[in-house]
Amino acid sequence: MTDTRNSKKLFIKTYGCQMNVYDSQRMADVLGPVGYSMTDRPDDADMVILNTCHIREKASEKVYSEVGRLRKMKEEKAESGDRMLIAVAGCVAQAEGEEIMARAPAVDMVFGPQTYHRLPQMIAEANRAAGIKVLDTDFPVEEKFDHLPEESNHEGVSAFLTVQEGCDKFCTYCVVPYTRGAEASRAAAPVMEEARRMVAAGIREITLLGQNVNAYHGEAADGSEWGLGRLIRELAEIDGLDRIRYTTSYPSEVDEELISAHRDVPQLMPYLHLPVQSGSDKILEAMNRRHTAAEYLELVDKLREARPDLALSSDFIVGFPGETDKDFADTLSIINKVGYDAGAFSFKFSPRPGTPAAAVETQVPEEVKTERLKGVQQLLEAQQAAFNASMPGQTLPVLFEKAGREPGQLVGRSPYLQPVHIFGPERLIGRIIDCNITGNEGHSLFGEPVMTGVEAGETERKRAYA
Ligand code: SAH
Ligand code: SF4
Ligand code: F3S
Repeated sequence: MTDTRNSKKLFIKTYGCQMNVYDSQRMADVLGPVGYSMTDRPDDADMVILNTCHIREKASEKVYSEVGRLRKMKEEKAESGDRMLIAVAGCVAQAEGEEIMARAPAVDMVFGPQTYHRLPQMIAEANRAAGIKVLDTDFPVEEKFDHLPEESNHEGVSAFLTVQEGCDKFCTYCVVPYTRGAEASRAAAPVMEEARRMVAAGIREITLLGQNVNAYHGEAADGSEWGLGRLIRELAEIDGLDRIRYTTSYPSEVDEELISAHRDVPQLMPYLHLPVQSGSDKILEAMNRRHTAAEYLELVDKLREARPDLALSSDFIVGFPGETDKDFADTLSIINKVGYDAGAFSFKFSPRPGTPAAAVETQVPEEVKTERLKGVQQLLEAQQAAFNASMPGQTLPVLFEKAGREPGQLVGRSPYLQPVHIFGPERLIGRIIDCNITGNEGHSLFGEPVMTGVEAGETERKRAYA
């Protein structure tokens, strides 16, 4: 195959958090103008990018097994005279750039999260001759935001928008401050512009992203600073932007302005991912989380006062060094006190190289971690199941996103982020329709659109699952 500029295929595999999902889209945006179009088949690709996550050992190790699989494809392509560039991007690239180069010779390029705007130059360099390796793990966050292309290929009805990147919190278990660097906020004007472009392209729901999104403090045109609450209020003024969400937030940085946005801004959805990690003050302190269990509960009360139907989600780490049965019982207790309706994530503590908690001697045995993880997951699962089981009989506004698996079926999201399945006409995609919830199964809800006249007649099939 000849190496013409306009016929290149790009495959990106994304691991980790939503920030990586957003970044993968931006990489595609950067590479579109230099001739790369997306493919969903790695064996078809001229360039494969693995956008990686370093957060836990398992996430990190996936890179090497995936590179192993790709190496075979690369070799097969080489036999027929074609070249496949293999690139490792994201947080593993940032943390272990040199090591990847040494351990995985099939990898041509390694570049960190702050370098994606330089991709065309890096690819040109790698393409100069076979065997050239490119490593770029430089850090200036502002530059990345300044140089990302304005045009983006927004598809669907819901999109992520990064407003803040990096973290200064240094929780003692976490690699993010090292892989993403110090906290940096995008200026308000480009965020507003990007949101307007998204809405013009048909996006109805925007999820504001940041490793520590409520630390957002973006410079506004008049020189003042907007916090996240202010930004949400301004975004809510955009005609056609019907739903706003944000993730992930850090409890002690939730301020009054953000709480009042939950009270006053109807577009701000009643769902909040507010990680607490542990219910034990001793462990919270060892984690450097900067708040107590009681302070977290107080915050939850305030948020619920502002928005009584707020559904909460969280992250938990079990088996943090020094965690006793009593500390673990405190975690179960805070889960019971809060009630996590929206489902929460729980992980076994994974010692990450270079983080303080990895070096502590009081590591918890693997069997104990496994047991505790099971306990937390059962409780969280039961809370979410109870919340979902309380939905039938209610009417919820559902934003329809796509066709479902069965013919005539559509899937959307409730305000609480639950998937809702109905039977209805495809033109409902991209619209928010009130639905009577008739049943639930697993994490999904089933319902029927509340429709009038012609619309009801056009609904091809309706099925109640109750
Ligand atoms: N910025 C977010 C979370 C980023 S990482 C916050 O502060 O909440 C997502 C989740 O991964 C964390 O909330 C934590 O629960 C988990 N996590 C991070 N490092 C971990 C580690 N070393 N072992 C196990 N879980 C970890
Ligand atoms: Fe990691 Fe803590 Fe920062 Fe979250 S707040 S990204 S857990 S250091
Ligand atoms: Fe993973 Fe990096 Fe996100 S370590 S969780 S991809 S910030």
